Amino acid sequence: MTLAALWYPTDKCFIDGRWQPPANGKTLPLENPSTGQVIGQIARGSKDDIDAAVAAATAARTGDWGHLPAFERGRLLGHMGRLVLSHVDQLAEIEATDVGKPLKQARADVLALARYLEFYGGAADKIMGETIPYLNGYTVYTLREPHGVTGHIIPWNYPMQIIGRSVGAALAMGNACVLKPAEEACLTALAFAAIADEAGFPRGAINVVPGLGTEAGAALSEHSGVQHISFTGSVPVGGLIQTAAARNVVPVTLELGGKSPQLVFEDADLDAALPYLVNAGIQNAGQTCSASSRLLVHRSIHDQLLDRLAARYRALRVGPAMSDLDLGPLISANQKSIVAGYLAKGRDLECAAKGEISQSAPTGGHYIAPTLLAGVAPDHTLARDEIFGPVQVVIPFDDEEQAIAIANGTDFGLVASIWTNSGARQMRAAKAIRAGQIFINNYGAGGGVELPFGGIGKSGHGREKGFEALYGFSTLKTIAALHN
Ligand code: NAI
Ligand code: MG
Repeated sequence: MTLAALWYPTDKCFIDGRWQPPANGKTLPLENPSTGQVIGQIARGSKDDIDAAVAAATAARTGDWGHLPAFERGRLLGHMGRLVLSHVDQLAEIEATDVGKPLKQARADVLALARYLEFYGGAADKIMGETIPYLNGYTVYTLREPHGVTGHIIPWNYPMQIIGRSVGAALAMGNACVLKPAEEACLTALAFAAIADEAGFPRGAINVVPGLGTEAGAALSEHSGVQHISFTGSVPVGGLIQTAAARNVVPVTLELGGKSPQLVFEDADLDAALPYLVNAGIQNAGQTCSASSRLLVHRSIHDQLLDRLAARYRALRVGPAMSDLDLGPLISANQKSIVAGYLAKGRDLECAAKGEISQSAPTGGHYIAPTLLAGVAPDHTLARDEIFGPVQVVIPFDDEEQAIAIANGTDFGLVASIWTNSGARQMRAAKAIRAGQIFINNYGAGGGVELPFGGIGKSGHGREKGFEALYGFSTLKTIAALHN
């Protein structure tokens, strides 16, 4: 099967404004996770390609890209956003096929990418320095400047959204970027390069080198010509990236997932909460850094809520991405075996309900039925580890203090949500929970590009999205003039 929507090469790197085969001529298979079939080849970039991409980005900083005024950078990003929207059907089909996510969810990712480009396009000329009152005879002011060359290593679960929030913000500040997408899903990263080219970005501003993490990824994170690395992915690899960056003494932004809880108190509006409670766990088949994999429920409403959650689970349908059901497959056989391994470790738990894998799901696809587990102790492996699949655990609690202790009882701290109509409890719990984002009577707030996002603890550090990202992708210079 070929992918008719493609309009750019898939087996090349995009370096210095040109499509180039990887220096070693090697490729990797491109798999459709809905069928398990190989549908093409992607470039297996290596250190040589990363060297070429970093050289191109370095040259871009002192070339045409580096000379563009901020508003022109913003205009290019805005133009790119409009081009993304003009390709919405193609991009959604490509992403659905490559990642396995249901078409509607893939389409939402395209729209999010366009929003990031619009937002950061609009912000590019609105990042101001300060003047600082100081000793008489001095005038002191600050300048926000780009780091230089930024490296972006991204995962396969939300390629377009993560490219938008990290590369989009880095470009707005004037950095030149080298992007290493995940080997499991790099087609929309290549589309990003094709659209940037169409939009008229100067050569070298955006470079994309697909390849394995241990090859192209490691080469990028270790490169001495890179001045900032942003990474989204697993905790162990995040540690490797930070170690590599430490050797070059460059800053990193790490977004490493979580075990995000929703706390449902006895006075919550359960009708309002119910769709969020489930969707936040099963969206993208649970392969979401900010997935809500723990439902903490007050004991007085536990049984009735569990019944309603179970009914929703039984209605969930899983199938090929293009059938656009509730869930698609997992990304790979490997990810499926990780999730199946966790489910095996949860055999002692009460399986409250499962969704159904559709008859139309090809046997070679990586399908897992969404699973709701009940009566889970907070220290159980399934209540502590990031599973990264469509599995939610329900944990009862007796009072607010215990709920917060359970919420804070993992190594992670990415997001959390609080369901209660008590204003005082909303404020108390929002302060007490350790996480980068807290939602009150919702989950995710529609994913707004405006909202700073990132974790604490093993969820990582640094913030992406919103204006906050622009500070992370820039460095501050203080200028003090003595004039008497
Ligand atoms: P991973 O962390 O290995 O891969 C993410 C990215 O890092 C990919 O682009 C990969 O090529 C790259 N990479 C891998 N090893 C590298 C290295 N040594 N140096 C530089 N780059 C490297 O994650 P993977 O294997 O895809 O998934 C494993 C688990 O990680 C998942 O089960 C999930 O728990 C977690 N994960 C979390 C994500 C999130 O959104 N926070 C996204 C993807 C995975
Ligand atoms: Mg890995």
